[in-house]
Amino acid sequence: MKAAVIDTYKQSMPKIKEVPIPDIRSNDVLVKIVAASINPIDIKTKDGGLKMLLSYDMPMIMGSDFAGIITVVGEKVTNFSVGDAVYGRVQKNRIGTFAEYIAVDQGDIALKPKNINFEEAASIPLVGLTSYQTLHDIMQIQPGEKVMIQGGSGGIGTIAIQIAKYLGAYVATTTSANNFDLVNSLGADYPINYQTTNFAEVLKDYDYVFDTRGGATLEDAFKIIKPGGKVVSIAGLPNYRFGKEYGVPLWKRLAFGIATRNLTKLEKQTQASYTFLFMKPSGAQLDILGHLIEAEIIKPVIDRIVPLTKVAEALSYSQSGRATGKIILQMTNDSEKEVRV
Ligand SMILES: NC(=O)c1ccc[n+]([C@@H]2O[C@H](COP(=O)([O-])OP(=O)(O)OC[C@H]3O[C@@H](n4cnc5c(N)ncnc54)[C@H](OP(=O)(O)O)[C@@H]3O)[C@@H](O)[C@H]2O)c1
Repeated sequence: MKAAVIDTYKQSMPKIKEVPIPDIRSNDVLVKIVAASINPIDIKTKDGGLKMLLSYDMPMIMGSDFAGIITVVGEKVTNFSVGDAVYGRVQKNRIGTFAEYIAVDQGDIALKPKNINFEEAASIPLVGLTSYQTLHDIMQIQPGEKVMIQGGSGGIGTIAIQIAKYLGAYVATTTSANNFDLVNSLGADYPINYQTTNFAEVLKDYDYVFDTRGGATLEDAFKIIKPGGKVVSIAGLPNYRFGKEYGVPLWKRLAFGIATRNLTKLEKQTQASYTFLFMKPSGAQLDILGHLIEAEIIKPVIDRIVPLTKVAEALSYSQSGRATGKIILQMTNDSEKEVRV
């Protein structure tokens, strides 16, 4: 099969190579991938920027989420059949969705929502699960509560705004002025142009901040949070508590604790909590998101769709930080489109 492969960390960009179709385990299905999505984690992983959390043997096929059709099922697979159209986010130690096939555990996939195509479905798993786990599982947003979402026009922001509105929140979000119409159309109540306005000077008493930026922006979140509120970051630094829950060795946890001393101080000063989230694959939660998509509560937002052969350009565009919604890679060429159901 064709796949986008890197042979070494920090390789400039992946190369398209012929590699063997992966073997499946008894709980796995083999999926012929129709589309996959680009996520900022792809470049971070390639560059070795996440080695404290994730390290891979080389050569490595890139890519974390996908939509496609099951072609083989393992002997213990009970929930899916050959021919099912599915979407999913693979476990972090089994990545490789920028390829024609992926082997994936049946617990990490769900049936593709029927009202969207494969490219739209591929845009959802990683950002949908991250947003759902942040807003629903950790924040446990109740109707009428206020949440600030950083980067409302990005892959995460476009889905997070819609989930937060579904949960009944009042949503403030940062974006450039170009994307005000987009975030308004997704339901945002208070768009803020981050190029001209510091959100910390115009917002106060927020129940939650969903930080997708890290650094000084994350520290500023504590200026607007209520006592008892929650700041959740997916782009800041993991702290000691996260390291313990994630099962990282003690020396790494201590290193996390030292690196996040400022955040611990801010937690104490504001009586708000700081959580770093590293999202987890979940077929069950993709099923929930699928129902919200079929009910037209969540709509995928796609910036562009490009063939696998253009993976390097797609990754560079993601790295530019300017994508509006998701960038999608298509695996099948036109002559294979009849495999779609
Ligand atoms: N920990 C986890 O499990 C996890 C999971 C998913 C993602 N992440 C991380 O979350 C971050 C966001 O991911 P993403 O997929 O949303 O990225 P993305 O799609 O690449 O974000 C692009 C968007 O960011 C906006 N943006 C750029 N600079 C901004 C600023 N200073 N303030 C506000 N918005 C700004 C841009 O809007 P304009 O063009 O309007 O400027 C653009 O629409 C990444 O660092 C990613 O690695 C972590």
